[in-house]
Amino acid sequence: MDPHVGHVRIFDTTLRDGEQAPGCTMTLEEKLEVARQLARLNVDIIEAGFPAASPGDWAAVHEIAREVGTPNGPVIAALARANRDDIEKAWAAIQPAAKKRIHTFMSTSDIHLEHQFRKTRAQALEIIHEMVTFARSLCEDVEFSPMDAGRSDRDFLREAVAVAVAAGATTLNIPDTVGYLTPDEYGAMIKDLAENVPGIEHCILSTHCHDDLGVAVANSLAGVRGGARQVECTINGIGERAGNASLEEVVMAIHTRGQFYGVRTQINTRELARSSRLVSSFIGVPVPPNKAIVGANAFAHESGIHQDGVLKYRQTYEIMSAETVGLDGNELVLGKHSGRHAFRTKLKAMGVELESEEEFQHLFERFKDLCDRKKRVDDRDIEALVTGELQHTPQIYTLDHVQYSSGLGMIPTATVRLIGPDGQPRVDSDQGTGPVDAIYKAINRVIQRPSELIEFSINAITEGLDAVAEVTVRIREQGVPSREEQSEKIGASTSTTAVLTGRRVAQQIFSGYGVHTDTIVAAAHAYMAALNKMLAARQERIKAEAVAYAAGYASDPGGLPVDLFGGSTLG
Ligand code: KIV
Ligand code: ZN
Repeated sequence: MDPHVGHVRIFDTTLRDGEQAPGCTMTLEEKLEVARQLARLNVDIIEAGFPAASPGDWAAVHEIAREVGTPNGPVIAALARANRDDIEKAWAAIQPAAKKRIHTFMSTSDIHLEHQFRKTRAQALEIIHEMVTFARSLCEDVEFSPMDAGRSDRDFLREAVAVAVAAGATTLNIPDTVGYLTPDEYGAMIKDLAENVPGIEHCILSTHCHDDLGVAVANSLAGVRGGARQVECTINGIGERAGNASLEEVVMAIHTRGQFYGVRTQINTRELARSSRLVSSFIGVPVPPNKAIVGANAFAHESGIHQDGVLKYRQTYEIMSAETVGLDGNELVLGKHSGRHAFRTKLKAMGVELESEEEFQHLFERFKDLCDRKKRVDDRDIEALVTGELQHTPQIYTLDHVQYSSGLGMIPTATVRLIGPDGQPRVDSDQGTGPVDAIYKAINRVIQRPSELIEFSINAITEGLDAVAEVTVRIREQGVPSREEQSEKIGASTSTTAVLTGRRVAQQIFSGYGVHTDTIVAAAHAYMAALNKMLAARQERIKAEAVAYAAGYASDPGGLPVDLFGGSTLG
């Protein structure tokens, strides 16, 4: 009997399934920051990436394994297709982690086998047997996923899972890859496997549900009812197409209805809101206000009857508290008179790790600046300040000065001064349809790198007229090959589904985040952050390749990328 019978493991795949969604790309530093936050959240397993996809993915997994995969930290998992090359790359990438897992997968639905892999069921079973055995010869913790399990023939699925169990898989993850099943069907499928696969009682059954029909969370919970003791999910539910099951919703459903489900998780729920905001700011996708658990309105009561009830007795209209998910943000209010010590203590309590005293000093000055503009500075403001100021983007161009004028009957005009990579100031001006447009045009005149603004959003972090504004932008670089075109060249893709379907995905999208009490200045910072990311992306690819080699990953650097990352085949 499993001693952790009531423990549901949370397997976070934000950095793998989440990050492979169009426009959700993160830099290596951002991935590390998310991994640190996932460790604070106390997830059981972090799927750090898909090392065979690119040198950048490999390096990110390796770095996360090194820094976050401590003995008391989470298990670090890496994804690998069912072939030796992928599995070896995954194994090499997770080496520094104290607790390692190889996650390999092979489709089992006829539709995938016939039209995509061009394999028979018998061949699929052979591959599963061989590759799980191989993975197990390297690593004692091996997860196997029969991809598109949801549309697989049930008898064959049972057979495939049994082969993986016999070959040594320790976790059997059952993906509803295209989000096709209903909760009843998904729960029944898990129950059937739990009851009918020989040896499964020694393994962990896991859910992996996509949200195409909007039931990924319901399906995951039905899977738990059916006997699953691991749930794969992502922060804010990001992921391929409509996304994955949202971690915060799954966790809070189990937390709030623990008696009904008869299980628990080890998640530190007070870190949920912060995890959500961090991921949202990195990928440039705002959390909808009505999003369950972490949306700005999730605990807001608007109607008179509800307000009346909540004021008299909170539970009249609340099934959980904002504090439980970390949405209160008012724990320690700092102000103008708070000194270095108080600020340092606050950062420490928030788990913010600074790289140098210089970084602290910079942040402290920005904090003081904020205190001059805003009466009450709470956790949410500080968190936004840290995220905005410590953007892990190399500052290729720095915004040194921005000035704008606009108003009724005026032509919006802006002047910017940027400090370039050579340390020299560059000044330019332009006009636009509004102040933000004028500033963006002036910045473009300096940087001269064509990009398209595809999303712009403003949000007030706290209440009141002196609220800090956060601006998120997403831009697309123009005149460069798309991710798919690049991956066609190297023969592997960072997007599993894209590889599998041969579908083209959007060109690489870069997001930027800016915070300031002046919304227009916040918008300028956000745009600069996105542009710097775009400019840094190429440099980072080159650096990641160097890291992969420095770690002894391949002997022939001249072969990159075709030789090293082009050999993978789909099973
Ligand atoms: O959705 C899916 O099938 C996957 C697998 C790679 C586990 O993400
Ligand atoms: Zn998936």
